[in-house]
Amino acid sequence: MVKRKDIHFRICEKLLERFDAALTYEDLNKTEVLTHAIQNFCIQAESQKLNDVKRQYSVNDHLRVRIDTHRRYEEKQVDLDQNVISHLQLTGTEKILDIGCATGEFLIALQQQGHQGPLTGLDQSSTMIQEAKRNSKNTKKPIEWIVGNATKLPFPDHFYDWIVARHMLYHVTDVEKTVQGFRNIIRPNGSFLATTNSNNSLPRIEEMCNRMLLAFELPEKSPTTSPFCLENGKEILSSVFPDVEETVIHNALLFHEAAPIVNYIASMFPSLNIPDDLNLHTEMKKWLQIEIEQVLSHHNGIWRDPKAVAIYRCRK
Ligand SMILES: C[S@@+](CC[C@H](N)C(=O)[O-])C[C@H]1O[C@@H](n2cnc3c(N)ncnc32)[C@H](O)[C@@H]1O
Repeated sequence: MVKRKDIHFRICEKLLERFDAALTYEDLNKTEVLTHAIQNFCIQAESQKLNDVKRQYSVNDHLRVRIDTHRRYEEKQVDLDQNVISHLQLTGTEKILDIGCATGEFLIALQQQGHQGPLTGLDQSSTMIQEAKRNSKNTKKPIEWIVGNATKLPFPDHFYDWIVARHMLYHVTDVEKTVQGFRNIIRPNGSFLATTNSNNSLPRIEEMCNRMLLAFELPEKSPTTSPFCLENGKEILSSVFPDVEETVIHNALLFHEAAPIVNYIASMFPSLNIPDDLNLHTEMKKWLQIEIEQVLSHHNGIWRDPKAVAIYRCRK
């Protein structure tokens, strides 16, 4: 079991004394009150997280900008989808579920490469699923597309041969519980594949984001560890699956001009909690363009940002 010990309580003693006095006055049991409060807190945190994810993926343009930037500006050209497909080692008839499928390209490519088995894509964003339906209009066999939540999957136990969750588990609050839910609907001897980033990926872009937030007097991004990343992924998955194989791909983004870096950072505005204000966005992009050009000129016109991706193959 992975125990999360990264919650820091800072409770002022005076507040605690008043809390104790109020409980005594009301004749209430401290454990019961605290249990109830913690349960409410968890429910609120989960719904807040889901709302943040909904806001980030309510349009598909931002995700498209990030995927295209990674493809175009990678130092070493790596086709992650093809890498994942070769890790699956499919016979061609497996029943597969892609969770967090976004606009469906992965399953469509799988079928175009000859996969015959039933395919289902699930995503919490109806915009993404609509786009997936449009993209798959001409596939040989129909692919099933579902709007749904990874934490409440609408499938019976042992329903799929493979579940794939590429770059999505870092969006859920309780990764271990969510992956246990995935395991239940995988058939015995079936498998699970997940991908994610290193928590230390793209440090220069991260630093530039924080400088921008500071310059516009907005709260900085706190340097927390992602709930599911290269640094904790194997440990979390090993608590659910007996056999976990990890492959790490080290790479970097390499830029020689400011515009693609500006666009990449702008695609993250919703996840940086920047208000939906077009004038503010324009000002921020202008600021980024000037700052990034200056950084480039100090580094001989080269911006190199290291990154690493992990692929986990787990057997049930
Ligand atoms: C970073 S994108 C990855 C998309 C795609 N899997 C890929 O690797 O290109 C994350 C996707 O996961 C979806 N997602 C996030 N949390 C989810 C949840 N709890 N249930 C279902 N989908 C979720 C988002 O809507 C988004 O489409």
